[in-house]
Amino acid sequence: MASKRAARSRAWTARQEKDPYVREARARAYRSRAVFKLEQLDKKDSLFRRGMVVVDLGAAPGSWSQYAVQKVGPEGFVVALDRLDFAAIPGVFQIKGDFTGADIRQKLDDALGARQPDLVISDLAPNLSGVHSVDQAAMEELVLAAGRFAWSCLRPKGAFVAKIFEGSHAMGLRNEINSLFRSCQIRKPPASRSHSAEIYLVTRGPIRQTITPLAP
Ligand SMILES: C[S@@+](CC[C@H](N)C(=O)[O-])C[C@H]1O[C@@H](n2cnc3c(N)ncnc32)[C@H](O)[C@@H]1O
Repeated sequence: MASKRAARSRAWTARQEKDPYVREARARAYRSRAVFKLEQLDKKDSLFRRGMVVVDLGAAPGSWSQYAVQKVGPEGFVVALDRLDFAAIPGVFQIKGDFTGADIRQKLDDALGARQPDLVISDLAPNLSGVHSVDQAAMEELVLAAGRFAWSCLRPKGAFVAKIFEGSHAMGLRNEINSLFRSCQIRKPPASRSHSAEIYLVTRGPIRQTITPLAP
């Protein structure tokens, strides 16, 4: 058992060493190769502009927030949330806790104050159990919570970007998110490994009913 684990760990290290995105992340002082998925999504979908308000859900170790703060500049605002500790990133407001807890959601609302986010990015991923159906359900729950949060607070033309796992639940999840936003695209950025089940939703424009008052 221990030798199997050691062999898996050696294979992981060898794969990391060969991976050009890992090397590029190190060279550019990013904390994770995940940054290139966001950069590629940004190149395709023009997600970021200077001055934006951005919420990064599931932010640790922090490469997406590093990218976000560079793109929005000092006139923007980035809030990063994770249940794990991660080293401070200059210019980023960090919150530690479970995103699904009411107390942490309150901290997030307090951090935003009167600011309405232009962009909510979610790379949230549950602790994987290895049981496909359990992991899919946990992911679905997280993404739905993130999608509802984004729907409730985004500016009218704001965008929500989220990682989901492809599989039997993906269509239902996509439909659910689709019902909250005007557009919903599926993306598989090249930096996402082809054998990985992850795909990304890029959605825009929360649909909120406006009640038209009856004429007197
Ligand atoms: C793939 S990592 C994010 C990587 C990050 N985008 C980066 O570029 O460095 C997923 C993160 O989601 C976080 N996470 C999962 N469930 C969470 C929850 N309920 N509340 C807060 N964070 C959560 C995990 O702790 C983990 O750090």
